[in-house]
Amino acid sequence: MEVDSRIRIDLHCHLVPGVDDGCQTVEQSLACIRQWRAAGYLGSVCTPHMGSGWYPENTPDYIAPRVEQLQEHLDDAGIDYQLWCSGEVRLGEHIVSWLREHGVPTLGASRWVLVDFFGRQWPSCCDDGIDFLLDHGYEVLLAHPERLNLPEREWSETMECLARRGVRFQGNLNCVGGGEGPIAQDRALRWLSEERYFVLASDTHGPDSVAGRMQGLKTAVEHVGADYVTQLVSSRPRAIVEAGGGR
Ligand SMILES: [Fe+2]
Repeated sequence: MEVDSRIRIDLHCHLVPGVDDGCQTVEQSLACIRQWRAAGYLGSVCTPHMGSGWYPENTPDYIAPRVEQLQEHLDDAGIDYQLWCSGEVRLGEHIVSWLREHGVPTLGASRWVLVDFFGRQWPSCCDDGIDFLLDHGYEVLLAHPERLNLPEREWSETMECLARRGVRFQGNLNCVGGGEGPIAQDRALRWLSEERYFVLASDTHGPDSVAGRMQGLKTAVEHVGADYVTQLVSSRPRAIVEAGGGR
């Protein structure tokens, strides 16, 4: 059975031009989206980096009009593609105060929040951020767990602990395809086999980054079959964005 290509939605990408380390120009954004549209995707949730000192200007209020502008460019270009607003929230020391001050960037109008982490140790402030979200009724989706640079045993224990607390996991197509190295790919393929991912997403950062993600999609289908991949890139992402009112 082929993956139903009509209903794919990407929950994680850096398509908003000039706000982070993703696309830098509208032309780059449109070039990425044309490729995803041709691969059967109907929309993307825009998730610029937020919540750390890395791109301090990025807040839900700052990003929303920029997503609207990009949507207008798409409409003007005749590209049938839906964008939603969100952010990729970097877990860290000041994340709870940041969320209180700027608001919680959900995936579209849903209650889902995409978070990520970068570091060699999982500090307690990450758990504080997750607790804050769970306690306030949000669903937490951890981006690319397979890519976290923790020592293997700490990585396994941390992921088990997060799963027990109800955190869900977003696999990164680039990791599945091998673009982030063998450790990340081995973890990703194992987790696919064990059905531990809730969704798969692209984490697209620019036109040159799309091919590796497409390879990941192909690898995923080869590894676990089209039915499960359909859940990961179609049914579940669509249910998340439609929970906020649909297209
Ligand atoms: Fe990302």
